[in-house]
Amino acid sequence: MKVAVIGTGYVGLTTAVSLAMKGHEVLGIDVDAAKIELLSNGRSPIYEPGLDQVLLEMLGQSKIRFSTKLLEAKEAQVVFVCVGTPEAADGEADLSYLHAALQDIASLHEHSPVERIVVIKSTVPVGTGDWAADSLRRCNQLHVVSNPEFLREGCALEDALNPSRIIVGADSEEAVAVMQTLYSGLSAPWVITTRANAELIKYASNAYLAARISFMNELARLSTVLGTDVTVVSHGMGLDSRIGPQFLRAGIGYGGSCFPKDTIALLKLANQHGVTLGLLEKVREVNASQPVWFIEQLAQKIPDLSGKRIAVLGLAFKPDTDDIREAPALRILAALQAAGAVVSAYDPIAAKAVAALFPDAEYVTAPEAAFVGAHAAVLVTEWQECVKLDWKLIKEQMERPLLFDGRNAWPCDELKKAGFEYQGVGRS
Ligand code: NAD
Ligand code: UGA
Repeated sequence: MKVAVIGTGYVGLTTAVSLAMKGHEVLGIDVDAAKIELLSNGRSPIYEPGLDQVLLEMLGQSKIRFSTKLLEAKEAQVVFVCVGTPEAADGEADLSYLHAALQDIASLHEHSPVERIVVIKSTVPVGTGDWAADSLRRCNQLHVVSNPEFLREGCALEDALNPSRIIVGADSEEAVAVMQTLYSGLSAPWVITTRANAELIKYASNAYLAARISFMNELARLSTVLGTDVTVVSHGMGLDSRIGPQFLRAGIGYGGSCFPKDTIALLKLANQHGVTLGLLEKVREVNASQPVWFIEQLAQKIPDLSGKRIAVLGLAFKPDTDDIREAPALRILAALQAAGAVVSAYDPIAAKAVAALFPDAEYVTAPEAAFVGAHAAVLVTEWQECVKLDWKLIKEQMERPLLFDGRNAWPCDELKKAGFEYQGVGRS
């Protein structure tokens, strides 16, 4: 099929490339001309494992091309909307990019009115798809589908090719049939429902995952005073098939471009309808205080951080991505610098973006270098290169062998035996 994808960020680019891999003819559209230039030359503007290579292959096979002009997509039977829906000042989802994309779609349709499906993949508040369908009603033969995306950054392509489920909110059989053709070959359960249900499934999924993390982070705080080990507790819990092992890792709080903004957007949506989601409010509260709690643990060991050299390992909001949106590292760096610490930071991909925000920190190009002369080291993001380290060398290089493992990813027992002072999150 001929497909246009509006927005070539994490979701749009991954969607475009994965549809091209399935044999569709794809045109990726973005307002950012620099991004389009890079993409047209086979270079991905984002770091996402495996994406660069497949992008080159698809360009080579003429399965994909890029442009700033949606009007070049005259023959597109399907137009995906993958633009950002960031947090607005009041916490609601900012739909201005979506509105602009819908206007472009209306113009395209006026120029070439063919039977066409508009697929909203961006995460949007309940009611947005119905509103879009109403506002595009003057465009005959245009159907609006809500098809939320569940991929994770760091394994976006793999998730897009092997989705856990395909949720399609639609009010026309033609639209559903087109979606089935588009995604044929993907083996995942389908839920065909209303647009509103599809939209709520997306927010509810992210809010629930965020809740599991905050629950474990509170248990970690309890574990710290009880002398229990939250990693053993989560392992024991996760063996119950009703609970499952995923998203039970305590740490320094969730970050990223989605959990923070989607939880607040869901709260705002509920409030607008007179409903209070008290549990979700608490989930956010726990998450906001988790990095503060973590830094307090550090301050107990080093009461005066002024002039102390602290190594910070990992800056992206999670491993295998360059994304620093709402990264816990930003809060950790701000707290350390406010206390007068000298920060020496390492991240294989995200250091440049963080350096623009925290120019006073030192950025090193190898993980071990961050530890040199450090009074303590903090693991913020569990990149493999920040976890698998030469601990013998590090012990010799540190001023004080004090380790704060914000992800419970360093080899706790081995490190204690080697003479390090080790403190994880909720581990006795
Ligand atoms: P992003 O910020 O990485 O990319 C959005 C892109 O859209 C940018 O390149 C921007 O230039 C472009 N854009 C904005 N307005 C445009 C317009 N009018 N026409 C053409 N291009 C336009 O965003 P993202 O992380 O890919 O997220 C996109 C949506 O998908 C959001 O609603 C997000 O909540 C949702 N989502 C994201 C993820 C994720 O892991 N990032 C996963 C699932 C769902
Ligand atoms: C998340 C969801 O997992 C995706 O399904 C969803 O599509 C996406 O949001 C979205 O809507 O954008 P992502 O933000 O890429 O994906 O990353 P996750 O792997 O979910 O991690 C989010 C944050 O939670 C990270 O900061 C991570 O370190 C933290 N986390 C995750 C924990 O602290 N503990 C865990 O057990 C799991």
